[in-house]
Amino acid sequence: MKKQTVDVLTSRLAVQPGALEDKAVVVIDTLRATTVMVTALSYGAKKIIPVAEVEEAFSLRAQDPSLLLGGERHALFIPGFDFGNSPLEYTKVRVKDKTLIMSTSNGTRTLLSAAAGAQVFLGALRNGTAAMARALDTGRDVVLFNAGTDGALSLDDFITAGAMIAGAQGSIQLTDAARLARMLYEAHPDLRSALQGTLHYERMRALNLEADLEFCLQKDQSSLVPAFWGGEILPLR
Ligand code: MLT
Repeated sequence: MKKQTVDVLTSRLAVQPGALEDKAVVVIDTLRATTVMVTALSYGAKKIIPVAEVEEAFSLRAQDPSLLLGGERHALFIPGFDFGNSPLEYTKVRVKDKTLIMSTSNGTRTLLSAAAGAQVFLGALRNGTAAMARALDTGRDVVLFNAGTDGALSLDDFITAGAMIAGAQGSIQLTDAARLARMLYEAHPDLRSALQGTLHYERMRALNLEADLEFCLQKDQSSLVPAFWGGEILPLR
């Protein structure tokens, strides 16, 4: 039987035409969009609708005032939204049975460009092993699609892909990018020290988002794997 291939894409600008077709795609934005989404759905949010632009979020809420808006620009709260992009804001009391509209700088845009995949899941460190297993269970080749930062590789996403590959069961064929991600994770299992000095991590530290970093960098706290289908993100358990 042919082995499943696992590849890593470093940002949505790195996608070649046809690269996602027939693939199981796992979108990764560890700091912080996919961590937020895993958290909100774990606390009972009904679904999440990702949109590229802030204006789209406001216009959807104008049609349905029960919708809650979340996200960020430049890691900061968007005036008029209900939530920023800290996973710690998405508590059970605030999200249970709610539909969220989310717009973030990199994560939601990457999700929208992942829609070409045959099946699309969301991964972060907190659900990495479960997300990888779910993607491999499809029997398809797997693409770990990093959101990156502003079109460039972001080490937090790349090392998350490495952790997911290191935890994968069964015999898989790794591309060179996937092999590099796994080597990086295996050489630096202490994620805090691996990320010292990197762009997005230091940007968050400069904004005093230490508690978010602590939360986002915890491995395998959840077995919930969100799936993106028909414009909506729903929880799979
Ligand atoms: C993004 O989607 O770009 C990130 O989630 C940004 C952030 O963490 O604020």
